[in-house]
Amino acid sequence: MKTFRITEREARESVIVCRKNAFASELAPLREKLLGGGGIIFTDSNVFALYKKQIEKYLGGVPVFVMPAGEEHKNEETLFHLLNAMREADLRRNSCLVALGGGVVGDVGGLASGLYMRGISCIQVPTTLLAQVDSSVGGKTAVDFGGVKNLIGAFHQPARVIADPSFFKTLPRRELRCGLGEIVKHGALSAPLFEKLVSATDLLDLSFLGGIVPENVAFKASVVRKDPREKGLRRCLNLGHTTGHAIELCSNLSHGECVLWGLLFESKLAARHLRTDREFGEKLAALCFRALEGGKMPPLELESALLDKKNTASGEVTLAVPVAAGAFEILQLPFAQYQAEIMKIAEELC
Ligand SMILES: NC(=O)c1ccc[n+]([C@@H]2O[C@H](COP(=O)([O-])OP(=O)(O)OC[C@H]3O[C@@H](n4cnc5c(N)ncnc54)[C@H](O)[C@@H]3O)[C@@H](O)[C@H]2O)c1
Repeated sequence: MKTFRITEREARESVIVCRKNAFASELAPLREKLLGGGGIIFTDSNVFALYKKQIEKYLGGVPVFVMPAGEEHKNEETLFHLLNAMREADLRRNSCLVALGGGVVGDVGGLASGLYMRGISCIQVPTTLLAQVDSSVGGKTAVDFGGVKNLIGAFHQPARVIADPSFFKTLPRRELRCGLGEIVKHGALSAPLFEKLVSATDLLDLSFLGGIVPENVAFKASVVRKDPREKGLRRCLNLGHTTGHAIELCSNLSHGECVLWGLLFESKLAARHLRTDREFGEKLAALCFRALEGGKMPPLELESALLDKKNTASGEVTLAVPVAAGAFEILQLPFAQYQAEIMKIAEELC
């Protein structure tokens, strides 16, 4: 008997360009290649309404498929409509999908490009702050299914990510704060970025945010490079998310606001159980409050923390928690204890 091994090259090379006006300078030269079955632009109704003129100017003639905006459309129906549009546009194995939009467009477009003809290349052009600093980097793609978020998905690294801060000028403040949640999370894991955030005068200033996108991308890319399939280190990116997701399910706060609350609670939880840097904990809490702009305490129905994919062992909650600038640890607690302690921390914060 002979045994053969195929070593999977897990992370295909992904080039990430962060530059003002990169949409025009990087995509216009590709127009010829994208015509006549070479590619398709995938976007959502809001982004299309705002950027139709630029799409026509730089990529005129390339077929465009527009999905209705919103997480509620991140589903199998949109995925199959897109796959059908790709077929109708005569895309081939060497064609390319350009996903122009926020994390929803990026996730659906990334999955469709991973499925079509067993995988064609994808260029991610993230237009929200969250998509630029987080979702477009790392190759995770998915749609929600049967009421479960991101249930159907795959890893498919984009060939290219084009992060252009010019898109931020049309983003509502709520969407900016959504991205800020992930930026503060990266800051808790990266000491130099943390210092920049702590000393920023206006966390939502567009030129400040545009300036720190590359650092965030570099940080996330470094984590993904070391752990492309989330087998270990990449779990650090769940910082603040176990509690954050639970809050998201019982409130009308944005994902980013929930992550900020999650970071706040989980850093205080960490201080009760682990050796943590007290000064760092205080600075992180102050940073979260500043980013939240004094939002009031959210509802805390935490049962859904148990539904988190990581908490497979029954009754236990597993959290990646911040302990010092650039350092995290994994904390595991019985659910009842986790819930009681979060409630106590909430009382202390009020
Ligand atoms: N793949 C990953 O690693 C990863 C990581 C984090 C989040 N996500 C996913 O990302 C999604 C959230 O991403 P999001 O916050 O970007 O949401 P989104 O894509 O729904 O965009 C938010 C809103 O902003 C609009 N928009 C986009 N760009 C705009 C612009 N430049 N100006 C004005 N409006 C604009 C969109 O139409 C939408 O209404 C979720 O589905 C989440 O699961 C994926």
